[in-house]
Order: sequence, then structure tokens, then C-alpha cells
Amino acid sequence: MFKPHKLAIIGLGHVGSAVLARAIACQLAAEIVCIDIKPEVAHGEALDAVHSLSCSYVPGIHVYSGGFEECRDADVIICDAGPSIVPGQKMDRLLLAKENIAVIREVMKKVTAYTREAVFIMITNPLDITTYVAATEFDYPAGRLFGTGTILETMRFKSILGKHFHVDASDVQGYMLGEHGNSAFPAWSTVSIGGVTLSQLDEFFDHEEDLNREKIAQEVVNTAYDVVMSKGWTNTGIAMGACRLAKAVLFDERCVMPVSMPLNGEYGLHHVALSMPSIIGRHGVEKRIPLPLAKDEEELMQKSAESIQAVLRGNGVIA
Ligand code: 2OP
Repeated sequence: MFKPHKLAIIGLGHVGSAVLARAIACQLAAEIVCIDIKPEVAHGEALDAVHSLSCSYVPGIHVYSGGFEECRDADVIICDAGPSIVPGQKMDRLLLAKENIAVIREVMKKVTAYTREAVFIMITNPLDITTYVAATEFDYPAGRLFGTGTILETMRFKSILGKHFHVDASDVQGYMLGEHGNSAFPAWSTVSIGGVTLSQLDEFFDHEEDLNREKIAQEVVNTAYDVVMSKGWTNTGIAMGACRLAKAVLFDERCVMPVSMPLNGEYGLHHVALSMPSIIGRHGVEKRIPLPLAKDEEELMQKSAESIQAVLRGNGVIA
């Protein structure tokens, strides 16, 4: 029988409430349930959203709050439960590992009591750590659980390159790969704009100064901290990224986007989750695309893996 799509959002803090707003604006699903450790927060966010629907352009969406049993018939779950990096602390998502591994184990215990069918999209930081724990400890089917990963860095990368070359950011092709965090790196060998490859960008597109790859790579990582230091958190970019991925699942788009998932020998790596381009469709990650990388990019991928593995090891997740 026909069943309208249902989205569950776990964690209704700054990020979850932005996901809710974006999901409604994009008409992502007919039904959206808000779940939070503080039921009154989930209730308030859902109720606020319901009020918005009576005069919005997207009526007819059923928004409400509930417990984890609501995951039973969800098609997609987006999880951002747990604390985030805040101004005043060292800007490194990996420092959240201990606390958020515990949060995610609790969430996964509750979710898997009801479903392993929903596609589960992880946002909670440190993203590659929580994704690894959730994907490997709870018998979730491979590919059905993945993390937003470097889709966010990739969006920032495109935005920065688009601005640099005075073109629409969505016309920039290219990926940030590796860790969602300080060791994320641009795969310059994947960059092109309108069919023009990297070496000719300065020749074809307007710019004030020639492309400085190192400077751009740093800017992509640091711009997140600029947002955090300025407004206290990030939420708009990641909400868009998560909803984009959810739409790819719900529409079975088979679009190619970089997301995080445990590796299975790609680039010679095991016992770590990190981002590489992947085909996203109705089952989640339908296929990983281990791009051939330049030698220096492969080294950066190894470095990313090492920094994630050090934290997994430090927290007793891997031996
Ligand atoms: C972000 O990159 C802090 O992970 C969060 O926006």
C-alpha cells in the first residue's frame, strides 16, 4: 500500500531545528517527527513548525513530536544528537569524541529497537567517529547508515571557489575528502568549472589573484570556525547538506556526493570511516567511488585516516 514518506529528526538543537525548517521548506517528506532527549524541546519545535504551516507555501506536512518508537516506520532518520563545538573551546571536533560516542550508542540502542530499515544520516560530531561507531556496532545494514561527512566542506569549497572565480558556486565541480574536520582536504584533481580543468581556471575565469591552493584549503576548514566564533554554532549549511542527502534517498536520485562510511580496503584502509564520493539512492550509499587520487592527495587521505583512527583507538572503539 502507498505510504507517504516519513522523516525522523533526532536532536532538536540548533542543527535539528534548522533541518526541520529546511525539510519543510523543501517539502522533503509528508510526515516529520521530532525526537529529543528533552521531550518538551521536541514538542516546542514541532508545535512552532506546525504554526508556520498554516500560512506557508508548503501546507499539508504533518509535523509532530514523539519517542523513539516513531522511528519504526521512518524512511529516513537524520541524527544530530549531542553537544557541538562552541566558542571558547579548541576548534577541533575530535575533542567531542568521548561524550558523543556515549550519546550515539544510546541513540542507536533506541533506534535499532524499532528499525534497521530507515536510511540513517549522521550529523553528530566528530562525524567520522560517530558514523564508525553507529555503523559497526549495531548490525545496521552496510550503506544504510552514513554520515554527512565532507559534503559540508565540499559545499564550502564550491562556495569559496565560485566567489574566487566569479561564477555560480553550483557550477563548480570538485570534492573535499577525508575527515569532516581539520584534516579534510581538497582533491584538486577533481576540480573543474564548466568543463575547464584546474590548470586552466586562471586563464578562463575572472579573478583578483591567482589560485593559491594551500590558502583555499585552509579557508575551507577555517570558515566553519569563523561561523562558530561569530554566531556560536553552525546550522544552516549542514541542514541544507543533510536535507540534500535525504532528498537523494527519498527520490532514489543516485546522485554522487561525498559522504562518510566505514572503509573496506579503499585506499588500503580499514577500521576507519571517512568521506569519498558515493552514489546516494533509496538504500543509502549504493556504491562508493574510490577515485584515483594524485599521490599527495592519497597521502592526505592516509593522514585523515590516521587522525580518526587515533581517536577511535583512544576511546577503545578499535584495537
Ligand atoms: C560544521 O562544520 C561544526 O561540524 C560543524 O559546520
